[in-house]
Amino acid sequence: LPVLAVASEAYPLIKTGGLADVVGALPAALKPHGVDVTTLLPGYPAVLDRLGTAEAVARFGDLFGGAATLLAAEVEGAEFLILDAPHLYAREGGPYVGPDGSEWSDNAFRFAALGKAAADICCGAAGLPLPQIVHLHDWQAGLAGPYLTHGIEARPKIVATIHNIAFQGWFPASFAARLGLPEEAMSIEGVEYFGGVGFLKAALWYADRITTVSPTYACEILEPDGGIGLDGLLSGRAEIVSGVLNGIDVGIWNPQTDERVPARYSAESLADRAENKRALARRFGLDEQSGRLTFGVVSRLSSQKGLDLLAEAVPTLLSLDADLALIGAGDAWLEDRFRTLAAENPGRVGTFIGYDEDLAHLMQAGADAILVPSRFEPCGLTQLCALRYGAVPVVARVGGLADTVIDANPAALAAGVATGVQFSPVCQSALEAALRRTAALWADKAQWRRLQANGMATDVSWDASAKAYAALFRELAGS
Ligand code: ADP
Ligand code: GLC
Repeated sequence: LPVLAVASEAYPLIKTGGLADVVGALPAALKPHGVDVTTLLPGYPAVLDRLGTAEAVARFGDLFGGAATLLAAEVEGAEFLILDAPHLYAREGGPYVGPDGSEWSDNAFRFAALGKAAADICCGAAGLPLPQIVHLHDWQAGLAGPYLTHGIEARPKIVATIHNIAFQGWFPASFAARLGLPEEAMSIEGVEYFGGVGFLKAALWYADRITTVSPTYACEILEPDGGIGLDGLLSGRAEIVSGVLNGIDVGIWNPQTDERVPARYSAESLADRAENKRALARRFGLDEQSGRLTFGVVSRLSSQKGLDLLAEAVPTLLSLDADLALIGAGDAWLEDRFRTLAAENPGRVGTFIGYDEDLAHLMQAGADAILVPSRFEPCGLTQLCALRYGAVPVVARVGGLADTVIDANPAALAAGVATGVQFSPVCQSALEAALRRTAALWADKAQWRRLQANGMATDVSWDASAKAYAALFRELAGS
């Protein structure tokens, strides 16, 4: 079953967050189910650098202000189509923002081009087998919906997946004509959204099926708080909305074979983890021999992640005789906040402000617990890595965090099934109560080992979810 995935990032070519992990991992997970995914990505400089040999398979004379070439390449066994459009992507900076941190002013065209290329590929532009399903990820892929639907006779089925509804891709109505959107598309029954052009709205309007990355988030986005303006549309189409949990690449994230950390271990050799904890302490300037409970964080620093609440809760954390190690990058004020906390609490709070995959592995392999106090979380991947690495996840009971961690309440402890700690509502006092509860669990070493072992036995792979996506694609394609 040929599928065209359309996205703005995919690991290992370009990554700013979990979206890249998911788009990068799904093709390999779907292959055993007879689903052949080709992924269309923008040709940012970082992507072109990592591409290796590529073949030009189509040319566009004028794609929103310049010529573009479609390159086909295989990267680590996965098929990619890369949209090389220098006037849109050949510049220093990130996929969405420039070096100064503000959004590229032409983002509407940068990502409309992605959607337009997707539509052309579905009409045979790349000379590839015609996709039966187009899988649109997040707002950046959204305009493929109208481009594919208006003026094309038989289009493939569209699946739109929401990774984060907070990013909606809204642009003024005056853009509509320049985006080449037909007049009939510029209506509430189309791309029109709050008087402008809504890219995510378009994806959701034109989709034949809508998925998001956890069952609980699929419910949350039907309500005003979770849907952030799109709840009306979504609840009107609720029968085609479902949640399919993300997995992680259990080859990349495997504590038994992970070459990025000093000591490899399994649930049977958890004592070997201590070497990683010492390495983590050295790297973050924490006391090495303290025997204290070490909380870890690996996160974007944004209000979504609730780390401002953690910053406020640091005095409580320290009073529990625990340490904190944090890897994060994002909002400048949060970066400063954690830098200051580290400077004020030498030996007890350590931070790395920046992005570092190797360090993320060391954190999972060395920290005792991983904190994820998100205000909302469509799925979340760091708690899945934590489960796999025997770091006990301490999470807000929202979205995918609610669906993947079993809270160590008395019933779950008695049944022997607990894997972590959940708290609700998402506020400082509930977070502090969770920190206290975690410290109490840590004090009982046998119980803590049980939590770790249960977590490590949890299936966080793509197996079940790849099966679910494959079934959904087949049902839609009628094959
Ligand atoms: P989101 O996509 O909302 O940022 P996820 O939990 O789904 O959150 O995915 C985040 C991914 O990015 C994980 O693979 C995590 O390990 C990684 N990550 C986040 N911040 C950093 C960082 N500062 N350094 C290294 N990896 C990071
Ligand atoms: C988004 C969400 C995160 C999810 C990821 C991959 O970035 O914030 O919760 O895990 O997408 O689906």
